[in-house]
Amino acid sequence: MAIKKPIVISVLVFAIILLSNFTETNPYFTITEKDVAFEVPKGFPAPTYTFANNKPTPAGFTLGRRLFYDPILSKDSSTSCASCHQRIAAFAHIDHTLSHGISGLIGKRNVPPLQNLAWGQSFMWDGGVNHLEIQPLTPMANPIEMASDIGDVIRKLKRNPYYREAFKEAFGDTLISSERMLKAMAQFTGLMVSANSRYDKFMRHEDTLTQFELNGLVIFREKCAKCHREPLFTDESYKSSGLYPDSTLNDPGRELITGRIKDENTFKVPSLRNVAMTYPYMHDGRFRTLEQVLDHYSKGDYYMLNVTPELLATRDMNDLEKKEVIAFLKTLTDKTFLYDRRFADPTYH
Ligand code: HEC
Ligand code: HEC
Repeated sequence: MAIKKPIVISVLVFAIILLSNFTETNPYFTITEKDVAFEVPKGFPAPTYTFANNKPTPAGFTLGRRLFYDPILSKDSSTSCASCHQRIAAFAHIDHTLSHGISGLIGKRNVPPLQNLAWGQSFMWDGGVNHLEIQPLTPMANPIEMASDIGDVIRKLKRNPYYREAFKEAFGDTLISSERMLKAMAQFTGLMVSANSRYDKFMRHEDTLTQFELNGLVIFREKCAKCHREPLFTDESYKSSGLYPDSTLNDPGRELITGRIKDENTFKVPSLRNVAMTYPYMHDGRFRTLEQVLDHYSKGDYYMLNVTPELLATRDMNDLEKKEVIAFLKTLTDKTFLYDRRFADPTYH
């Protein structure tokens, strides 16, 4: 035993050195003033969330990032925001049809990507949340997502030396409150801006698209852009995409929030930015590929409740046209955003 002690100690010291290299002290994770400057990209409309009462700072953003990646926000400290929102999938969840929460519980909806949230007028597939700052309370309280009690989370944060220091750095004193926690998280999620795909560069005359992709863009503008409106690729409205309701999930969509029959089977028009990375698709993840999505629209065998005329215009694309639209959709992949070091997991080692 006596011989093993020094080995254990040196392994520990080595592990600590290794760990510290990969945490916020590593320059890769260091956030500067420049990193938190919020700029409206060229051609984008004015954002909904303006950071007016929550100016991003390096310390605030760093705190928000840590919270996003920390399972401490869930009841049994098992599930972080990032366990469902994966960076490489533009913060959607690759390959999971429905979300997986605490204790392996399966949710009722597909995890949407997180991007350009500062332009969001309401969130979730049904628009049940209308402010970016309060949005995290929903997954935290949801019994099948993080199942925690906000008071509990604040108590856990107060006991944690890292957070005592991080809240002080971000807000000037040691008070740890839910309001401050939510503000820091909104600094992190609000700065997730995707505006540098090949499509964006094409629009700024910095890059070209192939003729095939351009053909796709023309069809897209004719058949899809009324709902998936450029440059955000959503018009922030709730529409039916003609999907037959899933009889197991029985999800009424927007009607759940408004109680209005005219909202039954309507869902938020999702942005199509980074769509090649965010499979599976639709609120219930029923389509695995973009080909299946395009088949759905071109076949036009719609469940007609609350279908609008724009949807009917998508019908009858031939195979070539479908391929061209898909080629165009792939130009919306934004590697600058997907590999942005600011959004990487600071606790990764
Ligand atoms: C168990 C998986 C899971 C966890 C954990 C989770 N989310 Fe989500 N998130 C989802 C799902 C599913 C939706 C869609 C919910 C709906 O439509 O009802 C969603 C929606 C969102 C949205 C709305 C996006 C939009 O465009 O409408 C935001 C923002 C978000 N989550 C942020 C977070 C944050 C911040 C956390 C951590 C506090 C978190 N999520 C934790 C699965 C999860
Ligand atoms: C009437 C409005 C409307 C039109 C027109 C429309 N969409 Fe959609 N789209 C939606 C809605 C609403 C959803 C979400 C439906 C759901 O999940 O139930 C959606 C979902 C999608 C998705 C899945 C995105 C994701 O993250 O899950 C893709 C891809 C898509 N549409 C592509 C297209 C293409 C390509 C066209 C043109 C051929 C098109 N849409 C036309 C409203 C529309």
